[in-house]
Amino acid sequence: MYQVVPNGKVALVTGANSGIGAATAQALALQGYRVFLACRSAERTRPVLESIAQASNGTAKAAYIPLDLADLDSVRRCAEAFLKLRLPLHLLVGNAGLAGQHGLTKSGFELTFGTCHVGHFLLVQLLLERLKESAPARIVMVSSKAHRHAHTIDMTTVRQPTGSRTGLQEYAVAKLANLLFTRELSKRLEGSGVTTYAVHPGVVATDVWRTLPAPLAWVIKWFMRSAKEGAATTLYCATNPTLATHSGQYYEDCAKTEPSPIALDVALAAKLWEVSEGWVSRD
Ligand SMILES: NC(=O)c1ccc[n+]([C@@H]2O[C@H](COP(=O)([O-])OP(=O)(O)OC[C@H]3O[C@@H](n4cnc5c(N)ncnc54)[C@H](OP(=O)(O)O)[C@@H]3O)[C@@H](O)[C@H]2O)c1
Repeated sequence: MYQVVPNGKVALVTGANSGIGAATAQALALQGYRVFLACRSAERTRPVLESIAQASNGTAKAAYIPLDLADLDSVRRCAEAFLKLRLPLHLLVGNAGLAGQHGLTKSGFELTFGTCHVGHFLLVQLLLERLKESAPARIVMVSSKAHRHAHTIDMTTVRQPTGSRTGLQEYAVAKLANLLFTRELSKRLEGSGVTTYAVHPGVVATDVWRTLPAPLAWVIKWFMRSAKEGAATTLYCATNPTLATHSGQYYEDCAKTEPSPIALDVALAAKLWEVSEGWVSRD
């Protein structure tokens, strides 16, 4: 009978009710982490919690915590609820994301940028002290190879509804923001014992492709990785002991990889940080 041996570590995974996030949360729980699945629907998270319970004969520790990254008040409530538990936090996985959808978040940002970057920016800020107190701790941001299609971040456009027909240009910008944030964060956390990582999970058969025409999605899914395979690079960055002293780097296929030149732009990373601080401040 499979028994999970607790490792004394606590992890929070965003967007853990499906795809790569669900596979990541399940793997961490089976490795002995106490895992919080930060998602926007209890109902959609329940099957993942049931699957974790089943795979561990009820010995894994996993729980749902409400989070809608498109709503900064929800992000504040999520952080508050977690901090109230007075638990340490050793791992934060910023996994939630979407592609090819259109709109504006409740907090007034382009839908994909607001969800992938602004929501995660605030969540990390609010949990940063707890991560530092719990050091060694790690923050893993799920970015994408698609960041290579973005050549800058226009701080005005990201406050407007999705403009492109496919939404894929906005996706590239959001994933570039994930990378710039990861690098700037690592600089600011130097010496704190909290390290940061950005990953591309591969091309993975998940619901992220839901906006593709059904026959096309069905065909290309044959060539994609499974969600479990897609979680491999996230898990490598989250848990591999050899990476404990590495920070701010980008990984593909469980290997350090050079991101696009703009993702290494120190001035743009600093500007994004500064502007994001203004966006999430309540004053
Ligand atoms: N699949 C790929 O080929 C691929 C490639 C490169 C990068 N990625 C990245 O991998 C990450 C995981 O995506 P996936 O492929 O596993 O797709 P997925 O199955 O669609 O999972 C995305 C997750 O993000 C959540 N989410 C979306 N908007 C949210 C919000 N406002 N607040 C909280 N959670 C929200 C979704 O929750 P709901 O169920 O509530 O919508 C879902 O749990 C994303 O960041 C994606 O950009 C994926």
